Amino acid sequence: MEIISKLTGCGSYLPQNVVTNSDLAKKIDTSDEWIFSRTGIKQRHYAAVGENTSDLALIAAERALSHAGVTGQDVDLIVVGTTTPDRTFPATAVKVQKNIGCVRGAAFDVQAVCSGFIFALSIVDSMLKTGQFKTALVIGADTLSRLLNWEDRTTAVLFGDGAGAVVVQAVEVDTRSRNEDGILSTHIHSDGNLENLLYCDGGPSTTQTSGFITMAGKEIFRHAVTNLASVVMEALAANNLKGSDIDWLVPHQANKRIIDSTVKKLKMPKDKVVLTVQDHANTSAASIPLALDQAVCEGRIQQGDLLLMEAMGGGLTWGAALARWG
Ligand code: UT7
Repeated sequence: MEIISKLTGCGSYLPQNVVTNSDLAKKIDTSDEWIFSRTGIKQRHYAAVGENTSDLALIAAERALSHAGVTGQDVDLIVVGTTTPDRTFPATAVKVQKNIGCVRGAAFDVQAVCSGFIFALSIVDSMLKTGQFKTALVIGADTLSRLLNWEDRTTAVLFGDGAGAVVVQAVEVDTRSRNEDGILSTHIHSDGNLENLLYCDGGPSTTQTSGFITMAGKEIFRHAVTNLASVVMEALAANNLKGSDIDWLVPHQANKRIIDSTVKKLKMPKDKVVLTVQDHANTSAASIPLALDQAVCEGRIQQGDLLLMEAMGGGLTWGAALARWG
């Protein structure tokens, strides 16, 4: 027998306030044409005043639990990927733990910026396979609107708020045949030498403020194209698969041109890519589970479909995960 971890449910939440590119053009020197042509973004959602990352995460978590047919009491592990926790401490995950009525197990946050969901999924996959935990919530939740510098149009137009969650459960199986079920593999990387290409210029230990996003856009773009191509090929090679075996690419949604480049590398048809960047903008750790949930709700992703998820973010951090849905 062996333990595998299976994705058994998903849910997501977007704040109600929708802000279009044209809305932004009334506030700063930009245009719908510039934003859409450079990034593919048309609009984003911003959390209301008083609506915090844990509030978004909670709704996404509750929807994922309901979709998986389990309750908060069944959960024994919660990992939230976030860069915008409600408080410096404790973790946003413990707030979710309390609010879903979970009174056991462990809850903590993972800080890998836009790669946060992939990193959290990778950690949870490993922890479930030890046999120590049975039912996990992996959440990506961020309110990056709180870190926007409205004096910097090169970054202010790129981000939005949201949350997505998946339920991941440990299941005992007879030794599984290759690529059959559950999470097949995860692959995570970091390169701290590149930390100054994308960072937030605040922090409790330095400025005692949360600070603002600072990004060397062109360099980040270049690293994203290279690193994502490399990590998706690493994931395929580890499972003896090729691009044509993938049913759905569920990428981090930062820039449509970056996604197009990964699709080209994988030689995948464009209609097999879940694209939400036009509606959500870059929601950091939330973007993959938000896209996944949308495609599942629309009936595009079906039970047994092979998913390739990938992301890159500040750190730099990057990673990929291959999994069968359901
Ligand atoms: O989640 C992972 C993190 N993020 C990413 O993956 C983002 C990676 N980078 C990118 O997506 C792109 O580099 C951007 C979308 C950020 C920028 O696109 P770009 O084609 O690299 O534009 P640029 O920075 O070279 O700027 C071109 C021009 C500049 O004007 P000049 O100097 O050519 O006259 C900018 O000042 O566009 C100007 N510009 C803008 N114009 C209107 C920059 N931002 C804006 C704006 N509206 N918001």
